[in-house]
Amino acid sequence: MARILITSALPYINGVKHLGNLVGSMLPADVYARFARARGHEVLFICATDEHGTPAELAAREAGQTVEAYCAEQHALQKKAGAAFELSFDHFGRSSSAENAALTQHFAQVLEEKGLIEERVDRQVYSKVDQRFLPDRYVEGTCPHCGYEKARGDQCDNCGRLLDPSDLKEPYSAISGSRELELRETKHLYLLQERMQDRIAAWLDGKTEFPSLTRSIANKWMKEGLRDRSITRDLYWGVKVIKDGAPRPGFEEKVFYVWFDAPIAYIAATESWALAAPAGETRDWRSWWREDEGAEDVRYVQFMGKDNVAFHTVSFPCTILGSEEPWKTVDALKSLNWLTWYGGKFSTSQKRGIFMDQALELLPADYWRWHLMANAPESDDASFTLEHFASIVNKDLADVLGNFVNRITRFCVSKFGPATPENGAYGDIEENLISDLDARIASYTASLEAMEFRKAFAELRGIWVAGNEYLQVAAPWTAIKTDPDRAASSVRAGLNLIALFARLSHPVIPRTAKAMADIFDLTPEQLNVWPENAREALNALPPGAAIQPPDVLFRKIDDEQLDDWRARFGADAPA
Ligand code: MF3
Ligand code: ZN
Repeated sequence: MARILITSALPYINGVKHLGNLVGSMLPADVYARFARARGHEVLFICATDEHGTPAELAAREAGQTVEAYCAEQHALQKKAGAAFELSFDHFGRSSSAENAALTQHFAQVLEEKGLIEERVDRQVYSKVDQRFLPDRYVEGTCPHCGYEKARGDQCDNCGRLLDPSDLKEPYSAISGSRELELRETKHLYLLQERMQDRIAAWLDGKTEFPSLTRSIANKWMKEGLRDRSITRDLYWGVKVIKDGAPRPGFEEKVFYVWFDAPIAYIAATESWALAAPAGETRDWRSWWREDEGAEDVRYVQFMGKDNVAFHTVSFPCTILGSEEPWKTVDALKSLNWLTWYGGKFSTSQKRGIFMDQALELLPADYWRWHLMANAPESDDASFTLEHFASIVNKDLADVLGNFVNRITRFCVSKFGPATPENGAYGDIEENLISDLDARIASYTASLEAMEFRKAFAELRGIWVAGNEYLQVAAPWTAIKTDPDRAASSVRAGLNLIALFARLSHPVIPRTAKAMADIFDLTPEQLNVWPENAREALNALPPGAAIQPPDVLFRKIDDEQLDDWRARFGADAPA
């Protein structure tokens, strides 16, 4: 048994996340956390909302709220949506917490003491009408690359290029629309990443577990060479710039850049988790994060979309390693490609695609969880379409798994009564099934361990199919007429298969797994044990134990339903 720390990239605060965000980090992290717990590891699974920066300020302004009220409300909504999706965070914190402010200020102070932070003078866009500097998205204008007229100061939505506000042609203020802008000089703090090049390179060399997508992104950044980067912004909403316990002169109206404080919030949210311990329970957050206080044997696994990889393999390590303090760094970093909406972009600002709260209005979480994980954008981007979703749900969940459970439990009740049959012995067919399952379970387990989710869930589907094929061959409905013992033992095998499927499926479809476990009145502890051995699994249910057939586990999606959804969500490729 090991101690495993798991973090999902922290979702931006502005609005409930879409299915692309979900499958990009939070959902795979949850599946892995559930799997690791079932394997008997001690798991700590941490997430939080990423709250600072211009997007939050602008969204609050648009909603007519203070940024504090806006973030509090959005945090609550995201927390609720996460819980409804069965995301089993041990803590879902906030980057705007007092813990994160203190820790961010701590890192800045230590980095400065190590000679890695200095003040520099920048020329920045200033708005006379708004009487303030306009960082990032506060400026809009024409993209110098593609001519798009509504490019934002940090990025062009049309061509995707990263921009600096001063790059924009014909710039105007996103607050007032004013074009009375000028460049003025102002101070900022710079993190001297160039000095960290060798240290980061050596650290990356030691990260032998990083998969190829992660590694290739990190290498590309290392090859281009680390650049010193500004870690402060002219904003109200963020971590205040404090030095030696007082506001830093010249930085009274500035805050740390959101990408500086956000990853630190992994640690701070763990601290918040400890502070939230119920009476009588002590939680030691430092034992998860400080290698001098117990974290030397922690395995740390991160999940994120590919756009986040550079920040986690280069920038955040600069903060951590630069501090020269014994903080835990990531061991395994799983990164995912994009999920697209009919080949185009899911978009929060343009409300394109399906969002977590909307998804649950259509169908329970497990339907989405299964489809998203079985088709996770791993080796490449993957396209979400409602048509594909419906076909996967109907085939994998309704026809293969649901039908199996339904068929065998109902047959058992009608022929043997509501209990696991005791008579009859297993024979050759069951022996074949056992050796087939042993191989499949081993491969499924190895794929989950390697966080290769598509492969893993193709194998899990194969396990469900193997159960169906077994029933086809054993055919208890025919055997019952001539050989009731044979029928009884196949039904017993079938019921044990359901209990096995429940345990194997639990990481990905937890609520259905619970419904399957409820057939046999299994406790959560019995459900949450990883099966290693098919022979044991097929003999796990005590003969004679009561069973209670479930309601239909999955309902099929029909064409009419599909048409409704297509109309509601604008199901076709964006122009
Ligand atoms: N909010 C960022 C995104 O959604 C991820 C931040 S991860 C963190 O892309 F570690 F920096 F917080
Ligand atoms: Zn552009």
